[in-house]
Amino acid sequence: MNNKPFYITTPIYYPSDKLHIGHAYCTVATDAIARYKRQRGFDVYFLTGADEHGQKIERKAKERGVTPQEYVDHIVDGFVSLWKLMDVSYDGFIRTTDPLHVACVQRIFKQLYEQGDIYKDAYEGHYCTPCESFWLERQLKDGCCPDCNRPVELVQEESYYFRLSKYADRLIAHIRKNPDFIQPPSRANEMLQNFLLPGLEDLCVSRTSFQWGVPVDFDEKHVVYVWVDALSNYISALGYGTEDDTLYQKYWPADVQIVGKEIVRFHTIIWPILLMALGQPLPKQVFGHGWLVLDGGKMSKSKGNVVDPVQLCARYGVDALRYFLLREVPFGSDGVFSNETLIYRINNDLANDLGNLLSRTVAMIDKYFGGEIPAPDAINIEVDDSLFSLAARIPSELDARMDTWHIPDAIAEINRLVSACNKYIDVTAPWLLAKTEEGKRRLATVLYNLAECLRVAAILLIPFLTQTPGKIFAQLGTPQDLRDIAAVAFGQGRPGAKVEKGEALFPRIDLEKELAELGAAGAPKEIAPACEIPPIKEEIGYDDFSKVDFRLAKVLACEEVPKAKKLLKLQLAVGGETRTVVSGIKKWYAPTDLVGKTVVLVANLKPATICGVESRGMILCASDEGDLLSVVGPMVELPDGLVVR
Ligand code: MSP
Repeated sequence: MNNKPFYITTPIYYPSDKLHIGHAYCTVATDAIARYKRQRGFDVYFLTGADEHGQKIERKAKERGVTPQEYVDHIVDGFVSLWKLMDVSYDGFIRTTDPLHVACVQRIFKQLYEQGDIYKDAYEGHYCTPCESFWLERQLKDGCCPDCNRPVELVQEESYYFRLSKYADRLIAHIRKNPDFIQPPSRANEMLQNFLLPGLEDLCVSRTSFQWGVPVDFDEKHVVYVWVDALSNYISALGYGTEDDTLYQKYWPADVQIVGKEIVRFHTIIWPILLMALGQPLPKQVFGHGWLVLDGGKMSKSKGNVVDPVQLCARYGVDALRYFLLREVPFGSDGVFSNETLIYRINNDLANDLGNLLSRTVAMIDKYFGGEIPAPDAINIEVDDSLFSLAARIPSELDARMDTWHIPDAIAEINRLVSACNKYIDVTAPWLLAKTEEGKRRLATVLYNLAECLRVAAILLIPFLTQTPGKIFAQLGTPQDLRDIAAVAFGQGRPGAKVEKGEALFPRIDLEKELAELGAAGAPKEIAPACEIPPIKEEIGYDDFSKVDFRLAKVLACEEVPKAKKLLKLQLAVGGETRTVVSGIKKWYAPTDLVGKTVVLVANLKPATICGVESRGMILCASDEGDLLSVVGPMVELPDGLVVR
């Protein structure tokens, strides 16, 4: 136990959309580092949270007819459940709507204003609401946001400005003197060349055109710019500037702040300058990871290719998804997600290599040694030595990869040990050894070595997979004290431990069948409405509602309306009466789909003649005015004519 504090953060997430697998990547990678450091005895504080203010949120809440707070509360609950599902071991969860955070941002803003680093001026410029970014005319790409290509809005407001320019030289010097500050190094170059060396403009840090933000407490019509608000979370969560700042004193400056590549700019320019102005130390490192992409494009709901981590966890298990994210995406660069590569990783690395090694080892110990790990005896110097030395070397090789956060390479080291064990089985051929007494002495050594390598691999897997190491230990009968990193050295395993056959760690997946089930696109189908969910209409009284006569109606017959592209003609039984109703649902239903079904009819709607057919009433459908549509009916069989209210 070295007990040294280690502070690691993820960005705090916007509660605007459902989180996709790309978001999960960022948090799971951070979680792996946090778990790794904890395993190595560090006193880790891992912070994540939600970035809840801004015009975008205010607009979305308004469209849905709820308050911004109600809107974010609901989505943030979803974040917390996803992190729980994915075993994300955060220590702190900060919400920018927490009163402690709000007060901290107000104090920071006031201090900077009072010391002259923030000043008031008129502002005219371009604002990209989806990115919450200000842009100068010359930075726009064809008049649009250079980051997301969406249109920007011309903003004219009296605003507060932050003197970024005053600190630019100090920041450039800091970056040059501390090569580890921005990682990977390519991102440091990008920041210097694209932003810092051409010269920094002062930053507009308040807005008056919306309210959903932290109010500037000495000038209440202004709210603090969301990035100043959001970035402060990393210290507000530690109690910075409050009476109880124990966490801040202990953990700041952060050891590493993990962020996606598109927000490195905010974290390596605005954030360090803010800290310099406050007279506080800078984070030791900001690491910009790449994106998880689909077919060469960033995942986003608007591109219709979001992959839901909840669905994937339900289908393949948390460890399979964590493994894929951590093993497949080169840390720092982009990685591509496809269902095929996910299944390939599960089958190849997890089911065939790791899972099979465990089940074969346990089965052989069971069969040849009555279920007890045998004591090693007849060592074959040549064959065993290379396995010993690999098992002895792997922990430090893994440490070297993790020193630079190369998680996939660290996992590859564990895989090397697993593959070596599988080869060792081929070379030693245990089934032949079992045939003679002398062979059995040798077999005892072979099986001890295999069990020992598996124990070492399970210890090393602890930071990455949350369920599998425990399952391996249980099958090997590993006592608690030998599950710890302190016992990672090969050879500490005690003979005599009772193995216990268990379920396959990762059942093999039939790739073709699975892909067919997932759909031709190879991605789980997302049911997403084509349009924004419209806001709830203005309130009405019961009197207005009761004017509409909704009835259950049974479809007696149904046919297409000749020459009409969209229409079906339905004969409906409504409490002893028969009606004809025309409905524009031909794209979704064949006439035979509807016959015999019970639907809801607006029975007192004035008759209308549509394509020459008189329609008496209208049947209710739920629809997004795009591809989604369903006729609405009762959940159990009920007689037609019943009133729906
Ligand atoms: N709210 C800001 C961060 C403020 S931090 C003071 C934000 N939020 S976000 O929800 O849009 O993104 C959160 C993190 O998820 C970012 O690091 C972002 O890069 C990451 N990812 C979003 N999509 C991603 C992928 N497709 N792949 C990998 N990471 C992705 O930005």
